[in-house]
Amino acid sequence: MRWSSAFVLAASPLCLASPFVSKRWDDVELLTKHSWNEVPRGWFYKAAPSPDHVLDMRIGLKKANAAALISSLYEVSDPRHERYGKHLSKQDVDALVAPHTDTVDAVESWLRFHGIEPSNALFRSSGGNWLTVTVTVAQAERMLGTTYGIYEHSESDASVIRTLSYALPAELHDHIDVMAPTTYFSTTRTFRATSFVEEDTVDDSDRKVSDQALTAAGIPSSCNTAITIDCLQALYNTADYTPTQTDVNKLGVAGYLDEYANRNDLQTFLKQYRPDAAGAEYDTVSVQDGGDDQSDPGIEANLDIQYTVGMSYPTPNIYYSTGGSPPFNPDTQTPTNTNEPYLDWLNYILAQDEIPQTITTSYGDDEQTVPLEYADSVCALLAELGARGTTVFFSSGDFGVGGGDCQTNDGKNQTLFQPAFPASCPYVTAVGGTTGVEPEQAVDFSGGGFSNYFGVPSYQSQVVSDYVKGLDGQFEGLYNTSGRAYPDLAAQGSGFRVVVGGRVRSVGGTSASSPTVAGIFALLNDYRLSKNLTSLGFINPLIYANPDGFNDITNGTNPGCGTEGFASKEGWDPVTGLGTPDFKKLQSIVASAE
Ligand SMILES: *[C@@H]1O[C@H](CO)[C@@H](O)[C@H](O)[C@H]1NC(C)=O
Ligand SMILES: *[C@@H]1O[C@H](CO)[C@@H](O)[C@H](O)[C@H]1NC(C)=O
Ligand SMILES: *[C@@H]1O[C@H](CO)[C@@H](O)[C@H](O)[C@H]1NC(C)=O
Ligand SMILES: *[C@@H]1O[C@H](CO)[C@@H](O)[C@H](O)[C@H]1NC(C)=O
Repeated sequence: MRWSSAFVLAASPLCLASPFVSKRWDDVELLTKHSWNEVPRGWFYKAAPSPDHVLDMRIGLKKANAAALISSLYEVSDPRHERYGKHLSKQDVDALVAPHTDTVDAVESWLRFHGIEPSNALFRSSGGNWLTVTVTVAQAERMLGTTYGIYEHSESDASVIRTLSYALPAELHDHIDVMAPTTYFSTTRTFRATSFVEEDTVDDSDRKVSDQALTAAGIPSSCNTAITIDCLQALYNTADYTPTQTDVNKLGVAGYLDEYANRNDLQTFLKQYRPDAAGAEYDTVSVQDGGDDQSDPGIEANLDIQYTVGMSYPTPNIYYSTGGSPPFNPDTQTPTNTNEPYLDWLNYILAQDEIPQTITTSYGDDEQTVPLEYADSVCALLAELGARGTTVFFSSGDFGVGGGDCQTNDGKNQTLFQPAFPASCPYVTAVGGTTGVEPEQAVDFSGGGFSNYFGVPSYQSQVVSDYVKGLDGQFEGLYNTSGRAYPDLAAQGSGFRVVVGGRVRSVGGTSASSPTVAGIFALLNDYRLSKNLTSLGFINPLIYANPDGFNDITNGTNPGCGTEGFASKEGWDPVTGLGTPDFKKLQSIVASAE
């Protein structure tokens, strides 16, 4: 029993007489855990990997009581509950996600049988429900009754070692949620950043928003086409607020894809678009050897950090650079490409005692390309972040109701709207996009829809069912009426001025909307802390109970999958959610939530 944390010893006396000690795991029946019907789109089988190739195998162990964390999350996030705001410490969360001793015994016995010493694990989460061990391809193939292949991606020329299906001994299905790398093909190269450059050159050099004509609503009319910090401050009412809780309140940006935020570009940006913040810096934190190459500024990373710093100054910002693999060479034995971006970043951040109160991420996948149990595991880790008191934003995606041919990958090639993950996880706040100021309306690429994996959570069930009723059968069969619906809210997503390599570019995408909203909620967290209230944490129950904090967006649609897409209309809709934030209104809402 090397796995002897106090809670494990206390949990059960069975560990002294483990039935697994001498079990022969090669006699047992293997049952499929997950399999694909076809090689995931865009990937091609290339060759068999060397049997000696080493994989870092992440094992998600079942929690003894998976519902406990989720019910705590809802209690501390529901403004009507007496536990509202009483977020959990790392130790509290660790105790709630711990696996049962029988689970640990079974999995360790299985690993030992296959020649893997669990005490040599590369990583164990402090809650005990995540374990990373190194295995060779040959070991993994025996354990999982499968055959790994080297697969190449046609567009990005990334290559990965994955399998089309894997199996576990029948009794381990009760003990293991997920194994990775197995059937989740996305890597940092295809895991999509939701931003794009809209045009090549922009000349804003003589542009002073104070000189511009104003719209009836008092917004500079130039904001109809070009978004800067001034536009967002005017639209969302943040200009008068100065943060004071800068010793405790922080804003984090999760970055991937070898995207590096550039410090000189931030200074150029601030001098031009937020001169009072010139000189503001951010910290870079490297996760899994993530880089910080200052000669290689990333559009996504610069967009994110320029707008989070620009909106939240002087709140300290942190850029997390999560290691992607360098170009993978399948002919070497180097264990380079077992990268699992969500799991690595989440397990890193959850291991910290202090986590930024607000975090934004502008990456995602089509939900159907993420195996269900993998998505479940990631979504549960995101719930831990909320329970710890962090507000977690994800871009809702840039393909409306779905990009490409929208065909299902279940072997049937049915056309269905394609929800995005992690936006579809009910424990994150998904941010859609808007454009224009006369009036502000949905931008046509704003990702929105209904999950096929996660059921509709109670905080939104009423507004979602109202919206579905209003559709009156339109799009029936193309989307899942019982799924978690998103986005939850929205912000501008087009024409953002971003400095990249010293030049101003125009960048669009819900990648721009999420950092904008994160900047605004970082200010709201600051305001809460200044009133001696706790951080906001998971905000969905609060915001759905207070739709008045948002400017309802009632124009525009999000076409995709050969349809015109959903329509933005009065109340919540799957294009712009509850609408765009009004900081002043939200200030009074968050001040009265106790
Ligand atoms: C579904 O589409 C894929 C990719 O276009 C194709 O390879 C496959 O043969 C199709 N399957 C059916 C049943 O039509
Ligand atoms: C629709 O969503 C529900 C709730 O998440 C899920 O159980 C069901 O499988 C989904 N249906 C389809 C066809 O994906
Ligand atoms: C917050 O708490 C501190 C220390 O307990 C106290 O000094 C301060 O006056 C409080 N501020 C407010 C706004 O209640
Ligand atoms: C926006 O919607 C309102 C009400 O649905 C409509 O009256 C108005 O003309 C629309 N505006 C634009 C610019 O489409």
